[in-house]
Amino acid sequence: MRRRLVGVGVGPGDPELVTVKGARLLRDADAVLVPVLAGDPEPRDAGRAETIVAEYADAVRVRRVVFELGEGRAAAWAAAGAVVADTFARGARTVAFATIGDPAVYSTFTHVARAARERVPELLIETVPGITAMQDLASRSGTTLCVGSETLALLPLTAGLGAFEEALAGFDTVVAYKGGRNMRAVLEAVRAADRLDRAVYGAYLGLSGEDIRPAVQVDPGEAPYLSTLIVPAGADPGTERDR
Ligand SMILES: C[S@@+](CC[C@H](N)C(=O)[O-])C[C@H]1O[C@@H](n2cnc3c(N)ncnc32)[C@H](O)[C@@H]1O
Repeated sequence: MRRRLVGVGVGPGDPELVTVKGARLLRDADAVLVPVLAGDPEPRDAGRAETIVAEYADAVRVRRVVFELGEGRAAAWAAAGAVVADTFARGARTVAFATIGDPAVYSTFTHVARAARERVPELLIETVPGITAMQDLASRSGTTLCVGSETLALLPLTAGLGAFEEALAGFDTVVAYKGGRNMRAVLEAVRAADRLDRAVYGAYLGLSGEDIRPAVQVDPGEAPYLSTLIVPAGADPGTERDR
């Protein structure tokens, strides 16, 4: 049987947002790999997939894969590929890699799959889609992301504040990921575009410490890595709940 690596999107935090297909994969895979952040035994910001996985996979099949942010990133991805190869060498046939949100959206899975394929060339690589943080925040805050011919931009603040400002000027709805440390400048840009009043903010969605509020009420100094900002298009009172 061909060896199979499946990137399973487990949603942003609430275990109930794992799809039926994702839950089945986590239950049936020979091994389930979960990303954790280097040097942090209780990773708060970058390794919450493990908490969600615990609802579906018995601990004996779960193996941690250590990641790093910043300079050590590429080496960590390569090492993750080695962990995948080693898991197959120990007899696994189907290995699930759990990833926060969706595996096709700013996910470590893209890098892990590439590194694993270098070591196991005949590897079959698949994904199970997951609910993104953007979708969860839209749902929880009663925000419509887009309707009709409206445009939607999703960008990470690591792309630079300039890219975010251009998106505010050129798109109807704009969503910012990875804005934590830059939240002050992000909110200033939204205010300068005269779009702050309808913007919504969500941190630790579905996790302990969850914080969902109108962006005008955000303390930018407190925004963590796991925070998302939606700057919605024009008013749509038919679909909005009171916030
Ligand atoms: C590396 S990206 C992962 C995106 C994920 N694959 C998705 O589909 O949503 C990390 C960014 O996603 C957003 N994010 C992921 N999980 C979140 C959560 N539970 N609460 C708020 N934002 C979250 C944050 O903007 C964070 O900086």
